[in-house]
Amino acid sequence: MSVQFVVNGRKVEVDPPARMTLADCLRQQVKLTGTHVGCEHGVCGACTVIVDGEAMRSCLMLAAQADGATIMTIEGLSSDAELTPLQLAFKKNHGLQCGFCTPGVLMTLHALLTQEPYASDERIRDVLSGNLCRCTG
Ligand code: FES
Ligand code: FES
Repeated sequence: MSVQFVVNGRKVEVDPPARMTLADCLRQQVKLTGTHVGCEHGVCGACTVIVDGEAMRSCLMLAAQADGATIMTIEGLSSDAELTPLQLAFKKNHGLQCGFCTPGVLMTLHALLTQEPYASDERIRDVLSGNLCRCTG
């Protein structure tokens, strides 16, 4: 089936099998491998991307459901020349170890802080509780 969406500002047309997840489609057909796949059943948050402004687990969404959507992946968060303040803060504070969970964490936080720029520490912790980090627990 033909599916069209905009990802990181680029319009793409893909031809995913009916049951292919958005995560697999982004990685295999669009070649955006910054979106990681961990649990594949919605628990770890590693596959989080932003779909029409909302943080979504791309392992729980079929590629076909993204038809017409606007998607941002970790590759679209910043340009090569400039990191976002959130990315700079992670870098400055060594906010990662192996980095496997990091794209999902950044996309989750980017969506939150876009909608709630003044989110409290408690709110941030609550939202981030859906992203599991195997290095740090
Ligand atoms: Fe999607 Fe874990 S891979 S939530
Ligand atoms: Fe390794 Fe989070 S830094 S899984």
